[in-house]
Amino acid sequence: MAHQSDLIADDILGYLKSQEEKSLLRFITCGSVDDGKSTLIGRLLWDSKLIFEDQLAALEADSRKVGTQGGEIDFALLLDGLQAEREQGITIDVAYRFFSTDKRKFIVADTPGHEQYTRNMATGASTADVAVILIDARKGILTQTRRHSFITSLLGIKHVVLAVNKMDLIDYDQTKFDAIVADYHTFAKDLGYRSIAAIPLSALRGDNMIEASANTPWYDGPTLLSHLETVQVEQDAIEKPFRLPVQWVNRPNLDFRGFSGTISSGTIKPGDEIIVTASGQTSKVKDIVTFDGNLEEAIAGQAVTLTLEDEIDISRGDILAASDAKPDFADQFEARIIWMHEDQLLPGRPYLIKMGAQVTNAQISELKYKVNVNTLEHMAGKTLELNEVGIANISSDKALAFDPYDENRHSGRFIIIDRFTNATVGAGMVNHSLRRATNIKWQEMDINKGARAYQKGQKSAILWFTGLSGAGKSTVANLVEKKLHAMGKHTYTLDGDNVRHGLNKDLGFSDADRVENIRRVGETAKLFVDAGVITLVSFISPFKSERQLARSLVEKDEFIEVFIDTPLEVCEQRDVKGLYKKARAGEIANFTGISSPYERPENAEIVVSTENQSAEKAAEAIVAKLEEFGVLGAWYPDI
Ligand code: ADX
Repeated sequence: MAHQSDLIADDILGYLKSQEEKSLLRFITCGSVDDGKSTLIGRLLWDSKLIFEDQLAALEADSRKVGTQGGEIDFALLLDGLQAEREQGITIDVAYRFFSTDKRKFIVADTPGHEQYTRNMATGASTADVAVILIDARKGILTQTRRHSFITSLLGIKHVVLAVNKMDLIDYDQTKFDAIVADYHTFAKDLGYRSIAAIPLSALRGDNMIEASANTPWYDGPTLLSHLETVQVEQDAIEKPFRLPVQWVNRPNLDFRGFSGTISSGTIKPGDEIIVTASGQTSKVKDIVTFDGNLEEAIAGQAVTLTLEDEIDISRGDILAASDAKPDFADQFEARIIWMHEDQLLPGRPYLIKMGAQVTNAQISELKYKVNVNTLEHMAGKTLELNEVGIANISSDKALAFDPYDENRHSGRFIIIDRFTNATVGAGMVNHSLRRATNIKWQEMDINKGARAYQKGQKSAILWFTGLSGAGKSTVANLVEKKLHAMGKHTYTLDGDNVRHGLNKDLGFSDADRVENIRRVGETAKLFVDAGVITLVSFISPFKSERQLARSLVEKDEFIEVFIDTPLEVCEQRDVKGLYKKARAGEIANFTGISSPYERPENAEIVVSTENQSAEKAAEAIVAKLEEFGVLGAWYPDI
């Protein structure tokens, strides 16, 4: 490597020390290939002599082969590392590059600017302090400029470089440059930036990249590199209140009990008082233990083990915090969400939320509105599609400790995970907690579920019938209920068509509405179980997640899934309500089995078909199974 090679050769320790002491700036570049983004980064690396010799040789060869600069060095090739990118001429993922100058070290996140890649940009922006937003001087502020700016501000970036590129193509015209800068200031006034540095550039020609350009005598600001070397960013994490997410409770023997993790923000010294957010218990730090001995002080980013003065209960996932500046602790909060998966967000569906070391089930209980990332307009919407952004209320099963993201980027963000596939489907930033839920306490009644069921001489349960429309769910459920009734059991049937006439009459058949449909009927069935009643539920309930949700609402032995496994062809042939015909003719949208999916149960307690047996036989088989499972016996609980 050319850069500082003398020092490396003469005094390697001196070199390493000088590297260690330099501050680190993380920045993200936003723009498309057409704006010259890859050329800009390529030239920063090239002109600051940060390219390895072998990379140089490869670059020269590639420039001759596939370059777009007529055989001259094509800087963009330095960046477009992947074969596929080269062939398509676009950059398709987040690439992190490290370089350093005499003054600073840099990590640059290079992300594509195309609309469908919002998630990549959000990933790159989440750790950056500065965003370099590229503008083609001939085109000025474009839709994509607004999108890039909005996403960087959403991720909490406070410093922007407006890199007005291709100035050579507008003859270094100051008037045009000034107009672009004025436009940008008007647009960005609500985005919360603390600094906007506009620089006239030609990445291709090198104007104002490393050295001040003679072509822009009217510009007296810094060059791009010197701005990046000197821009003051907040030592964000260190200045915030102390937070340590406990990754591990370290207990090698009875005499030692330490709490290990990486300090996410703030500083800590022995003697400082900390609070365990979940329990509210406090203690003082005894020692800060590391592999290299005890420390006098530790700061954000350091991995440490703390020992405390008192024996208090702390486990993995707890947050230790400065006792005079505690985080919020709530199971309901408002957040901005970036959706990152092809499967849309479904409010009401249980997802996993991972916030630092804390993991819990949670539901997006209400999508308040979506934000058009191109215009920043608010729009109504029930779901989020891939790359869409929205503001939503979230309710989690367990209370979480966090700070509003705008106050602390390190403890206010989370990811959303699909419980079945384990895929990361979204990213979120907490706006503020909603205290409602923590103020509502569960009211215990003297007459409980056991007492009510006992009086009826039964054990209450849910018989959950699932299957395609026309599979025979309601017919069979009706026969089962008649048999139970004749046996003296107290029953009730919640039927899809009927419930959709009342409680759920505001819901249609989109995925989002079906999720809500099943969530509500699951909750209703739970109330019936509490009332001591054997409750038959007959809904298509096409999604595994929501059947699982309904199951999780009651005790293990209180949920019996009955899959009426009648093949689609048979249901369609019967077409009792004439709906399949209409669906095939395109008159009904989202029809289950035809234009909307049905996820077959894999572990239903009872599976019956009405294809080759009468509904009566199916009902008999179900009752026999219920008897076998002991569901129909009387129950003598402790009451
Ligand atoms: S679910 O999918 O949300 O569980 P639910 O059981 O409540 O559905 O309602 C299904 C009933 O609504 C069907 O039996 C049928 O009579 C009627 N229906 C009307 N439109 C549709 C549709 N697009 N898909 C499925 N069922 C529909």
